[in-house]
Amino acid sequence: MATRPHLLIAGKTGAGKSTVLNGIIHALLTATTPRDTQFIMIDLKRVELSDYMYIPQTQRYADDGQSALQALQQALRITDTRYADMSTRRLKQYDGSNLYVIIDELADLLTTKATKAPAAEMIQRLCQVGRGARVHVIACTQHIPTIPTAIRCNFSDRVALRTTTAQDSRNIMYRAGAERLPDPLTEHRAMGYYVTGPGPTLYDLPMVPADELRRVVEHWERQAA
Ligand SMILES: Nc1ncnc2c1ncn2[C@@H]1O[C@H](COP(=O)(O)OP(=O)(O)O)[C@@H](O)[C@H]1O
Ligand SMILES: [Mg+2]
Repeated sequence: MATRPHLLIAGKTGAGKSTVLNGIIHALLTATTPRDTQFIMIDLKRVELSDYMYIPQTQRYADDGQSALQALQQALRITDTRYADMSTRRLKQYDGSNLYVIIDELADLLTTKATKAPAAEMIQRLCQVGRGARVHVIACTQHIPTIPTAIRCNFSDRVALRTTTAQDSRNIMYRAGAERLPDPLTEHRAMGYYVTGPGPTLYDLPMVPADELRRVVEHWERQAA
């Protein structure tokens, strides 16, 4: 994440977005401590990320539009504070914890009238200035065309999972192909393209078993106090 700061994970329902997200979160929860890793979670569907609500890494869990906007404001305030701190200490790169702003179903935030404009503006700003402050945005979406191009472009790195159409695939990774990936629900395996500057690479996606995720979450919940 230090060199590739923001990630957009896209694909149809059941394609494996949550699997990828849980895999990233699991890696962070097992390889680092709350001193290194902090989360701000935006989960308008109230299911995908609710397991992580009570771990000490999670500074804020937002599950409605208004609190989502407040969560984004908080992330921007943290970013500004970090830059101010860096400037007094003459640092080029912030040396504290990584803050991950994790958004499940980005499209919900960007299509609802009340949140659309301010959310778009704040996400775009976070993507533009986050890197130096170790603030990272990881967002999932199944409605790719509804994400404004200006926002899509800020995510230089993407994961393209199975899409419904070739056009959706082109919207994520500038070429067709994601529509032909295996369907995890029927084929019990998931593949995706990891898209970076040089182009897409095909990956087999590992899936962290639910009981292993539970084990790690319960470990951190016990540490919270
Ligand atoms: N690597 C995998 N191996 C086996 N099954 C998988 C794998 N990835 C996903 N699946 C199956 O696909 C289902 C849907 O994946 P999920 O991550 O919930 O999709 P999404 O969040 O995109 O809707 C999972 O519950 C799981 O049963
Ligand atoms: Mg999901």
